[in-house]
Amino acid sequence: MGKRGQLYEGKAKKVFETDDPELLIVSYKDDATAFNGQKKGQIADKGVVNNIMSNILFGILEDAGVPTHLVKQLSDRETLVKRVRILPLEVIIRNVAAGSFSQRYGVEEGSPLARTVLEFSYKNDALGDPLINDDHILALELSTEAELARVRDYAFKVNEVMKEFFRARGLKLIDFKIEFGVDSKGTILLADEISPDTCRLWDAETNEKMDKDRFRRDLGKVEETYRAVLDRVKG
Ligand code: TMP
Repeated sequence: MGKRGQLYEGKAKKVFETDDPELLIVSYKDDATAFNGQKKGQIADKGVVNNIMSNILFGILEDAGVPTHLVKQLSDRETLVKRVRILPLEVIIRNVAAGSFSQRYGVEEGSPLARTVLEFSYKNDALGDPLINDDHILALELSTEAELARVRDYAFKVNEVMKEFFRARGLKLIDFKIEFGVDSKGTILLADEISPDTCRLWDAETNEKMDKDRFRRDLGKVEETYRAVLDRVKG
């Protein structure tokens, strides 16, 4: 697939056009940011880990009935994907209290939740990705009602599949963020990535944090942890 000009550069990835207007190439970087870009750094080989891990998970989710943008991995850092219009929503699922949920509601990290929580943030860096609800999304026309229903369904499905996948690999899926896009036919596809940047994963035995919180909170052993998660994902 012929690579053409760069379409976009985000905080963790670059996106390139290809000879086919329906396909894009995503290239994963080692750059890491946190707190809406205020903290910046590099995590050696993060791009390789996130690319490979994301593609393994997208393959499993596709088989489980969640359509994704994945076409094919091209190299350690590059993947061919279907072009979509990304819905400006961060779709967050929480199985256990942590992070901003713990802070906002005053609940200790690691506390069990009486039910699975789905929450949305409005993807808007200038506003700091504020929490948003279903009514806000529809009022602001960020998605249609049908798209929103689909997104909610897929998000819970992704959670069920991933919880079991990580459980079998000695990891607890605490929470995660996913994004969806709409292709040229109007089909909703799981897009962006699923990686230690976008999930909280705790070791099932020790509760050791095995995700980007090691970078966000300066816990050390960042590169080793990303590598260890990929090794477990590969099985
Ligand atoms: P939070 O507790 O900080 O709201 O994060 C919830 C989940 O979303 C956690 O698994 C990390 C992930 N996340 C992202 O992928 N991108 C982001 O910009 C933020 C803030 C969180």
